[in-house]
Amino acid sequence: MAVQLVNEALDWGNLSFKPRQTKGIVVSLYDSDKGEWSPLRISDDFNFTFSVFGGIFHYGNSAFEGLKAFRGKDGKVRLFRPDENALRLQRSAARIGMPAPSVEMFTEACVKCVEENIDYLPPYGYGSSMYIRPVLLGVNPLINIEPSKDVMFCVMCTPVGTYTGGKFLAPGTAVISRNYDRAAPNGTGAFKLSANYATSLYPYVMAHQLGYQELLFLDPATKTKIDEFGSSNFIGIKGDKYITPLSDSVLPSITNKSLQQVARDLGLTVEKRIVPVEELAEFDEINACGTAVVISPIKSVSDKPALESDVVTKTWNVPSGDECGKTSRKLYDHIRGIQDGIVEDVHGWCLVL
Ligand code: PLP
Ligand code: COI
Repeated sequence: MAVQLVNEALDWGNLSFKPRQTKGIVVSLYDSDKGEWSPLRISDDFNFTFSVFGGIFHYGNSAFEGLKAFRGKDGKVRLFRPDENALRLQRSAARIGMPAPSVEMFTEACVKCVEENIDYLPPYGYGSSMYIRPVLLGVNPLINIEPSKDVMFCVMCTPVGTYTGGKFLAPGTAVISRNYDRAAPNGTGAFKLSANYATSLYPYVMAHQLGYQELLFLDPATKTKIDEFGSSNFIGIKGDKYITPLSDSVLPSITNKSLQQVARDLGLTVEKRIVPVEELAEFDEINACGTAVVISPIKSVSDKPALESDVVTKTWNVPSGDECGKTSRKLYDHIRGIQDGIVEDVHGWCLVL
């Protein structure tokens, strides 16, 4: 399937979340013989040639990141917390024994990528942004199960709107994935490894066929506690409480971490703790949160013994229903305001170019 080309006119208000080829990417290769990364290079070639023995093609020797750049109301360009993404990529890479760029190198690559593709950065006012996708690919030939020594670091970007293609803050539906886990106890759920997403591909197909937008995963050991959505973290709002699961198998979301601070700043109480599945009945508002989904309200969560089964055991309808809940809306406006340069960035989260 062809990637949309750069010179096609973009409808900034209806971008959805799909790859569009921009002007260039930023690349660097870690050469294990030299023990160093090559200087960051901009390339207009969006295709790579690697040995088919590269670990990326066999054992999932790959980690990645996702962050966004925004065009503010003041015309300035802001990257949201790139240092946090750099540190998370380092943790992910360490989990699979691969080298990762320093925070400085990671940040410089993201900045270069945005600058190179500045014409594709959505203007202020559409809610859209530039999604930046840094990846680490294990490229040296191997056939036994081992970490990759030679690693390609590549940063690409694409202008995006909403994750599901609808309107911002339009509530979606979720289904619990009981018979397919994304993470294992003591596994890699807390790291941003490509392999974690492979496990969710088939259940996503099932969920979408059934008309649900999101998969909700439970803790893989007992299946009694909420972990997270396939694309994002879980937030439940109960009165003035912001509740989010504490779990070893959840990806530590930078959006969630930031929203917890915003919640405190707005006078909410933050609870990061075990969230039993039954508590779904008690939330006033439920959201998915993450870089790609921003805050996406969830209006119902259904439970099924298996995704393939005709049986729906239970459906929790969230009181906020077809509207985004009031508290979620406040959180959304605040964090998007910081990213757009409208709300004061008191925590110094944005890197202003
Ligand atoms: N959980 C999963 C499984 C994700 O893929 C993502 C996206 O990165 C998140 C949570 C949200 O993390 P962040 O807010 O850092 O984008
Ligand atoms: C992100 O939010 O950056 C992610 O990587 C999630 C992915 C499902 C798009």
